[in-house]
Amino acid sequence: MLRVTHLYKSYPTPQGKLEVLNNVHLHVEDGSFVAIIGESGSGKSTLLQILGTLDHADQGEIILNDILIHKLSEHKLAQLRNQHIGFIYQSHHLIPELSALENTMLPLLISGSKQHHAKEKALYLLAQLGMKKRAQHIPAHLSGGEAQRVAVARALITQPSLILADEPTGNLDESTASLVFHQMYQLCKSNHISVIMVTHSQAFADACDKVYRLSQHKLSQEKCKNT
Ligand SMILES: Nc1ncnc2c1ncn2[C@@H]1O[C@H](COP(=O)(O)OP(=O)(O)OP(=O)(O)O)[C@@H](O)[C@H]1O
Ligand SMILES: [Mg+2]
Repeated sequence: MLRVTHLYKSYPTPQGKLEVLNNVHLHVEDGSFVAIIGESGSGKSTLLQILGTLDHADQGEIILNDILIHKLSEHKLAQLRNQHIGFIYQSHHLIPELSALENTMLPLLISGSKQHHAKEKALYLLAQLGMKKRAQHIPAHLSGGEAQRVAVARALITQPSLILADEPTGNLDESTASLVFHQMYQLCKSNHISVIMVTHSQAFADACDKVYRLSQHKLSQEKCKNT
């Protein structure tokens, strides 16, 4: 469902070109849960931003659901992001004025769904994440783990084919991180959503179907459950 080949990325800096990704290849099958690990500064977030079409590569091909994404206009890219890709970040990025329920509903409303349909679906997802009782809370009145679970619900609500998660449990204590990771894992698996998750946790990486390591600008596969 996602195939990345010959991907290169560098940033211009006053000191010259800073190479970040050099000939990166990546393959994610339908419904598989993939981890990316690597040292701080190795380019994990850069790679996720490019895969999420929020940044451009210098070279390379990215094919998502048979669509060559670098050929799309900005308008088509925005549509693709809304319909096919969900994002979860280290900090939740929820809208502070909106309740957990409203935050979760938002991507569906943007894609044109009716209010009652979005509400029903958001409540169902929040319930699955054990968050039904907090549906009316604004983000400031949620714990870190609760806010991240709302971010997971918001990423899932459009039923994207791919979720990109950049250290989704990075700000949480160990037991809350474990709860959020396992709920996210179960929900994505049961909805057949592919996930690429950046993590510094070896334990979470070990639970994933495939693990890639980013090091020295290259991505190499470390583990695959079926091989
Ligand atoms: N816009 C930019 N301009 C110049 N350099 C950048 C830019 N964004 C990132 N970098 C550099 O690119 C490298 C990769 O950054 P990136 O954020 O992808 O690392 P990371 O692997 O996600 O690290 P961490 O684990 O700390 O989040 C870093 O050396 C960073 O300083
Ligand atoms: Mg990062």
